Amino acid sequence: MEVGKGAFCYLLLALACWLKGCSVSDTPSSPDTVADQGERRRGSFLVIGDWGWDPNAHGNLKSKHCQQLVADVMHEQMELLGDVKFIVNVGDSFYPDGVHNKSDPQWDEKWRQVYSPLVRSVPWYSVYGNHDYHADPCACSEDPASCAQVNADINNLDFFYMPDTSFHQELPELDTEVIVLDINYLMWVNQTCPHTPCPEQCSENMKKRAFQAFELFQERVARSTAPNWVVFSHYPTDYFPGAWNTSEPLQWWTPSWVRMGSSEWPSGFPEFLTAMSNASRSSITYFGGHRHNVDQRTVYNTTPQTNWLSGGGGGWSTDGDEQGFVVGEIMEGGKVRTSAIIVNITDCLQEMVV
Ligand SMILES: *[C@@H]1O[C@H](CO)[C@@H](O)[C@H](O)[C@H]1NC(C)=O
Ligand SMILES: *[C@@H]1O[C@H](CO)[C@@H](O)[C@H](O)[C@H]1NC(C)=O
Ligand SMILES: *[C@@H]1O[C@H](CO)[C@@H](O)[C@H](O)[C@H]1NC(C)=O
Ligand SMILES: *[C@@H]1O[C@H](CO)[C@@H](O)[C@H](O)[C@H]1NC(C)=O
Ligand SMILES: *[C@@H]1O[C@H](CO)[C@@H](O)[C@H](O)[C@H]1NC(C)=O
Repeated sequence: MEVGKGAFCYLLLALACWLKGCSVSDTPSSPDTVADQGERRRGSFLVIGDWGWDPNAHGNLKSKHCQQLVADVMHEQMELLGDVKFIVNVGDSFYPDGVHNKSDPQWDEKWRQVYSPLVRSVPWYSVYGNHDYHADPCACSEDPASCAQVNADINNLDFFYMPDTSFHQELPELDTEVIVLDINYLMWVNQTCPHTPCPEQCSENMKKRAFQAFELFQERVARSTAPNWVVFSHYPTDYFPGAWNTSEPLQWWTPSWVRMGSSEWPSGFPEFLTAMSNASRSSITYFGGHRHNVDQRTVYNTTPQTNWLSGGGGGWSTDGDEQGFVVGEIMEGGKVRTSAIIVNITDCLQEMVV
């Protein structure tokens, strides 16, 4: 049996992880299936979320250590893979309040000094998480150009790549389209805007952005011919209509859309999970964070497609036991194979030696 590059890489990843004390989870599509079909890999990507440690939170030094451990393992995996084309960053990048501007020292402290130059040598496709909005000027301004995280120059690797709060990127060389949705309004508006200096204006701006997100999404559903979609927002699939049990008593963490009438939802929102499960493409992979763990156990199943909770980047209080990131391998024809790299939680929670 010929061992394809996919299976070979999987073995390398598993070996490297074993040496380092992390683990590679198994996935719905086993590496052998891919190898047996003799498919070749076109490129790969890594997915993280919820990472920028908070020096003021109770888990301060531990969180910093965990984020750094995840960052170091990302570096190693990137060296092994050798063809990582982009990073997917599902938001809550800077705890607890986001960045104030492009010269905010947190860009250095929580990003540039934590992730190696190699890990930052590819674009970081990013989306705002709820925390990212608290102190960001574009919570209070309609203009996306005022957003401290927005950067439309894909060659400017000093910042994330986020030409707008929602956007899409066609990658024909990878048979892939990346679709990025800012839906903070629908999920968490009243747990976000009260933390900004302008609660009402923030709510208006976030509403506009969520409607833009679904306008974009529906436009791509109608127009995109890419065999493979990589779709992400800050929120995991279990937060969406069709997955969340709306008969449960309302809690402070209940997604915002449950309190709104369905007439207030953007068109396309109630059908989102159906679209994510649509078998008509080779591959649709969805990622969301918000909950601080990496797994497929707690999300809503989008079979025959794939989705992950990928909010275990080692940030805020590291309250999930599975901290790490997801590796996506894009095979010829656009089929994507995913696996999680989970770091050793005991090592993760060691206090940083400073
Ligand atoms: C995790 O790390 C701890 C402390 O370094 C070690 O004792 C333990 O064996 C490791 N666990 C695994 C599964 O490697
Ligand atoms: C950017 O934000 C930082 C952190 O809040 C602040 O100290 C600095 O004055 C701001 N710089 C500019 C140019 O506004
Ligand atoms: C939804 O929640 C209600 C109220 O807690 C419960 O009775 C019902 O069994 C739940 N439905 C599902 C499908 O879990
Ligand atoms: C959010 O809070 C505002 C102000 O209290 C309220 O009018 C609105 O209904 C709330 N929205 C949701 C979705 O909870
Ligand atoms: C699945 O996607 C195809 C192609 O975009 C579309 O024509 C079809 O209506 C979709 N099916 C569902 C159930 O959404």
